[in-house]
Amino acid sequence: MKSRPISLQRRLGVGLTLGLVVLWLTITLLIAAMLTKTLNKALDSSLEEVAQRMLSLAVVEILNRETPDLLQQVVALHPHDEYITYLVRSADGTPLLQSHAVDAAIFPAKPQLGLRTRATHRLYGASAVSGTIFIEVAEPLASRNQALRQSLKLLLLPLIFLIPLSLLGIWLFVGYSLGGVKTYRDALEARGANDLTPVAANNLPTEILPIAEAVNHLLARLRFTLEAERSFTANSAHELRTPLAAALAQAQRLRHEVPDGSLKERAIRIEKSLGELANLSEKLLQLAKADLGGFLVEAPYDLGQILGYLLGELSLEAKARVKLFLPEAKPVTSLVDPDALAILMRNLIENALKHGAANQPVEVHLTIEGVLRVVNAGPIVPAEDMQHLTERFVRSKTLASGSGLGLAIAQTIALGVGTKLVLYSPAKGREDGFEVSLKLP
Ligand SMILES: Nc1ncnc2c1ncn2[C@@H]1O[C@H](COP(=O)(O)OP(=O)(O)O)[C@@H](O)[C@H]1O
Ligand SMILES: [Mg+2]
Repeated sequence: MKSRPISLQRRLGVGLTLGLVVLWLTITLLIAAMLTKTLNKALDSSLEEVAQRMLSLAVVEILNRETPDLLQQVVALHPHDEYITYLVRSADGTPLLQSHAVDAAIFPAKPQLGLRTRATHRLYGASAVSGTIFIEVAEPLASRNQALRQSLKLLLLPLIFLIPLSLLGIWLFVGYSLGGVKTYRDALEARGANDLTPVAANNLPTEILPIAEAVNHLLARLRFTLEAERSFTANSAHELRTPLAAALAQAQRLRHEVPDGSLKERAIRIEKSLGELANLSEKLLQLAKADLGGFLVEAPYDLGQILGYLLGELSLEAKARVKLFLPEAKPVTSLVDPDALAILMRNLIENALKHGAANQPVEVHLTIEGVLRVVNAGPIVPAEDMQHLTERFVRSKTLASGSGLGLAIAQTIALGVGTKLVLYSPAKGREDGFEVSLKLP
């Protein structure tokens, strides 16, 4: 199964951010472990310190009493919450002295020595006077845990900002780094059959540069092949001209010289076939020229005038049928090479005369916006044929002779100047007929 392509931006964004989060969490865990250890050590040592100090004071106080066994509670100088509480007892557990807010439940029944952790408190016990007076101090575990939790929170807090920031940053940075690739893609997309020149590969990452070079190689090979094909077509058509013209002349002479009858009919057929062949070779030559592209000239010229000349070249019979409609206001100018435009228009007018209803006028319209339309009457061309008519050697049902190259030539020239033929059948604003229109640049 072919996997769906994933954008590099997304891949790097998600991948690097995930990596960053994992790294951050690992470091946070390590710091938390270290912090717990150090914190416990420091707090334990101060707990011991407090116990030792308290014990020496307590011993003096207890020994100075008249009745040493009587429990005394140290009165607080100021009312306050006790953080560290203590309990002084004799070896059998009789309490002798305690801090004011002490909770006896947190201490064991009998005093014990050293550091211990009980359910809610950390305890430390010490003894004096040969093991007769014991002190135990207790510190709630909750406060230690809270300190730890707060430091953890502080360490994790940056992640909330870090994740979107890293995603956004990587997204923007990768997008910026890939800018050259996008420009390259656009340049490549803009290439058509008429422009196979190397694509400039500026600002491309070194990983992609070899691809660009390979593409340029391919383009060069393609250009070479296409040029070879075109020049072969053009040369063959050109070389065929003279022998075809000679053969045609011979056939015409033959037709005049033979007496009426089957022989003359055959001569006429030969002449007709040779005429079609000459036509085909002419069209192939035009097509080869049209394929060259680059049909724009520097200075704009008057389109109406060129159309006038073109119609002037037609045969008398054709001239009588073709009607030219020019905008009245002002001349329409164009940058399309006049020779290319002449080839295009001749093909369209020839089609209209040949395929359109005989004895009906052919209209050539030029609008002020530079839209050229060639309209003729005649049967409607089936819709399924319409979209293929501009392909090479494609013809619809017609009685007229031809090669199927006329519209292909016209379309190639139109594409070469950056526009397109639009075919209509029936013609716009009519019930029948055929129309070709194109907007000249
Ligand atoms: N003006 C037109 N009126 C009717 N049909 C047309 C017209 N122009 C072209 N066509 C149809 O399009 C087909 C292709 O035209 P073209 O490429 O010029 O080839 P050809 O003229 O040699 O047949 C024609 O065979 C015809 O069926
Ligand atoms: Mg034609």
